[in-house]
Amino acid sequence: MELRGKTVLLTGASGGIGQAIALQLAAAGARLVLVARNTARLATLQAELVAKHPADHQIFSADLTNAQERQDLLAFVRDLQGIDLLINNAGISQFGLVAQQDYATQLSTNLLMPMLLTQTLLPELQRKSAAMIVNVGSAFGSIGYPGFTGYSASKFGLRGFTEALKRELSDSAVQVLYFAPRATDTSINSDAVVAMNRELGNQSDSPALVAAALVQQIQQNQARRFIGWPEQLFVRVNAVLPGIVDKALAAKLAVIRRYAQLSQP
Ligand SMILES: NC(=O)c1ccc[n+]([C@@H]2O[C@H](COP(=O)([O-])OP(=O)(O)OC[C@H]3O[C@@H](n4cnc5c(N)ncnc54)[C@H](OP(=O)(O)O)[C@@H]3O)[C@@H](O)[C@H]2O)c1
Repeated sequence: MELRGKTVLLTGASGGIGQAIALQLAAAGARLVLVARNTARLATLQAELVAKHPADHQIFSADLTNAQERQDLLAFVRDLQGIDLLINNAGISQFGLVAQQDYATQLSTNLLMPMLLTQTLLPELQRKSAAMIVNVGSAFGSIGYPGFTGYSASKFGLRGFTEALKRELSDSAVQVLYFAPRATDTSINSDAVVAMNRELGNQSDSPALVAAALVQQIQQNQARRFIGWPEQLFVRVNAVLPGIVDKALAAKLAVIRRYAQLSQP
């Protein structure tokens, strides 16, 4: 998709990856509708966008798990004459053993919320001659990782939703893309996660690098994109020979468990 002049609704715009995506989309000539709960952060980002890449950038504060707030967002989008691109980027993550996990909140935010927002906004996208939906998953949406049972399940679900939706809309003008970063330097990762990644030698990317990959994926209409090496290889190996990844992660389990216990509230 050529981004110049397009209207992009970006969820999770107040977060680390979201802010970087917004800046790069605006630099490519898009008009942004920035969505998250934190109004102050959205307003600061809006001011930065308007100063650097002038356009009619908008903010909309909403808790997207709330049905009424999704309906209010739909009304806002209709007033804007629709959107060309929906990026479901908002998400949360919890690191901890099974007893520490809040599964309902993670599944509601990472899976149900983008599904319901897509359902709400799809008619607005279908009004356009060409439109796109991008769902931001994770490497853990293809590799179930110890200490992330809720997060992995939510991102596996999001990948399944994206694949089914892409195929359902394949004869329409709405493209559906799946984007999967690996660890990225944002505050979604607790100190325990950062320390664990360091000890295990897991690489972490900058939000700017991740945003650049996403913008390129959109411009190239690439259906699926996974960031990072060796994570891309592990995703493929896990799909065909999961026993190999079982063994590799079993060798790391003692370290993962130590940090997961550390992150207990
Ligand atoms: N960072 C990583 O290591 C990593 C790796 C792979 C994938 N990802 C994925 O990348 C995406 C962005 O993550 P990030 O690293 O940028 O995290 P982040 O900095 O914590 O940002 C998360 C964003 O989600 C928004 N959000 C959360 N719950 C929401 C709700 N109920 N309603 C509306 N907005 C909500 C937050 O905004 P408010 O708090 O203002 O509402 C914030 O803008 C997520 O989907 C994440 O799973 C991240």
